[in-house]
Amino acid sequence: MPDPNPAVMDFLLTRRSRPARTLTLPVPGREQLLRILTAAVRVPDHGKLEPWRFVVLDKPALDRLARLAAVRGPATGRDAEQTAKGVAQFTDSNLTIAVVKRPCSTEKIPEIEQVLSTGAVCVTLLNAAAAEGYGANWLTGWVASDEVICREGLCLQPGEWVAGLVHLGTETSVPPDRPRPDLEKIVTWAPA
Ligand SMILES: Cc1cc2nc3c(=O)[nH]c(=O)nc-3n(C[C@H](O)[C@H](O)[C@H](O)COP(=O)(O)O)c2cc1C
Repeated sequence: MPDPNPAVMDFLLTRRSRPARTLTLPVPGREQLLRILTAAVRVPDHGKLEPWRFVVLDKPALDRLARLAAVRGPATGRDAEQTAKGVAQFTDSNLTIAVVKRPCSTEKIPEIEQVLSTGAVCVTLLNAAAAEGYGANWLTGWVASDEVICREGLCLQPGEWVAGLVHLGTETSVPPDRPRPDLEKIVTWAPA
């Protein structure tokens, strides 16, 4: 017999991100963060490759990355507004987790399946943070793919890339929910 868990279903039916710029202190401490990250990697992973890893950015690291973004914006031809937006991603945050896709040499598991597993880690990280009472927001933007920020700022190795900068913190406001998909438009039953 099915054994429903209405509390989890209710969570899934109402879960949502919180805008990164509205998140503030306190952020999860080390023990609580490790618990959140433990939940985040409990995802389907074809071939058990673990094609992902985390880089934790606390405030001193975020300050350093903000300074680097302020240099990299103009250096890559971005205007003042684009640069400021990239810098703000780090200055607005008190705790960010960079979810990193790792290269895994295997001919058995297609790269796209490894990428899908990495996306699953990002979503589960959002949900685990929410379950622990924190707001979270999965962002990328130009700072997540800038070569120098990735190499020097996040210490990524060759072949690694950022799937998401997931910002965590305490929510200060709850903006209206965004419209959710209309199932009438996206669900079909395949013919017998
Ligand atoms: C891979 C990925 C990258 C994203 N990057 C950005 C971004 O750079 N800026 C932004 O405003 N939203 C970005 N978003 C969307 C935010 O995560 C947005 O808050 C999210 O769609 C809210 O959905 P939810 O409320 O269902 O969690 C991104 C989403 C994904 C999946």
